Amino acid sequence: MTNILVTGGAGYIGSHACKALKAAGFTPITYDSLITGWADAVKFGPFEEGDLLDRKRLDQVFEKYQPVAVMHFAALSLVGESMELPGKYWRNNVFGSLNLVEAAAAAGCKNFVFSSTCATYGDQDNVVLDEDCVQLPINSYGASKRAIEDILANFGDSDGIKHVIFRYFNVAGADPETEVGEFHQPETHLIPLVLDAIDGKRAALTIYGTDYDTLDGTCIRDYVHVCDLVDAHVLGLKWLQDAKGSRVFNLGTGKGFSVREVVDSCGSVTNRPVPITEGKRRPGDAAKLVSGSERAKRELGWCPHRSNMETMVLDAWRWHQNGHYEK
Ligand SMILES: NC(=O)c1ccc[n+]([C@@H]2O[C@H](COP(=O)([O-])OP(=O)(O)OC[C@H]3O[C@@H](n4cnc5c(N)ncnc54)[C@H](O)[C@@H]3O)[C@@H](O)[C@H]2O)c1
Repeated sequence: MTNILVTGGAGYIGSHACKALKAAGFTPITYDSLITGWADAVKFGPFEEGDLLDRKRLDQVFEKYQPVAVMHFAALSLVGESMELPGKYWRNNVFGSLNLVEAAAAAGCKNFVFSSTCATYGDQDNVVLDEDCVQLPINSYGASKRAIEDILANFGDSDGIKHVIFRYFNVAGADPETEVGEFHQPETHLIPLVLDAIDGKRAALTIYGTDYDTLDGTCIRDYVHVCDLVDAHVLGLKWLQDAKGSRVFNLGTGKGFSVREVVDSCGSVTNRPVPITEGKRRPGDAAKLVSGSERAKRELGWCPHRSNMETMVLDAWRWHQNGHYEK
């Protein structure tokens, strides 16, 4: 079986990727410090606990498993925290990724699939963001991810590392079989927060900013189902194995939903009222982030089939009611 090193495999998206990789015939090796992840979420292949900042440990793991590719999900990703503690984000995400790329290059592992983000585009008024848009991040998280994209490009030139960079829009939903799901602590993602408010785990959902220049005054985001997202990663891996070069792909649906629309959808799927409070805008939040994702469909043959809002909420609700992890 072909080994793939999955950094962040104990996290939300990485754990779903491990399931998809196993189903596609690969062996996912999870490398994770558990800083925000869960050992319980590692179900589809070996687990190696370790930090990206620990180069010796990375070398050991490359030596032990001889992976043919790295899927690099491990990162800190709280936009608000990144504005208060930029050093934490640059150290963990950028230094950590630099260590990983150097360890991969030293081990002769030349294929990289990297989780980047629409936060690298910043706040570009009412533009549908395609991969050629200029990247102007407005928060330290997005800036750290853009820097990692540059590192990968530079190591392509110097060491022949090929990459597929995926810039995700908002990832939502959960494994429909509820083997893995979304369980962030603290939770900052909209759908799980709304579901928490619906079943009383939090008093109310706070809507941050109701005076944006959008149809109902709340921020607009593009949501993609985590299962569709990780399917694209498996396609990206296969593309890399055949390709000579590197490529960037957005992963979204091209359709934007306002915060109020998502809240309404959660209310109607669960058939429960959603308690709401309204708060001020948060620094670092763009008004509207909607993707142009035609490239992934055209060049990878990506065909998202669960990324409609109702299915994403339904899958998240099923997980919310049945699944959780413990430290
Ligand atoms: N969830 C989203 O909507 C979204 C959107 C855009 C991009 N992303 C990116 O996708 C990736 C995965 O996001 P997620 O939502 O699954 O986050 P997550 O927090 O659930 O998973 C991240 C994992 O990385 C691990 N990790 C972090 N720093 C590490 C380090 N230094 N060494 C080893 N392990 C480390 C954590 O323990 C965790 O298991 C991240 O890179 C994130 O920036 C996520």
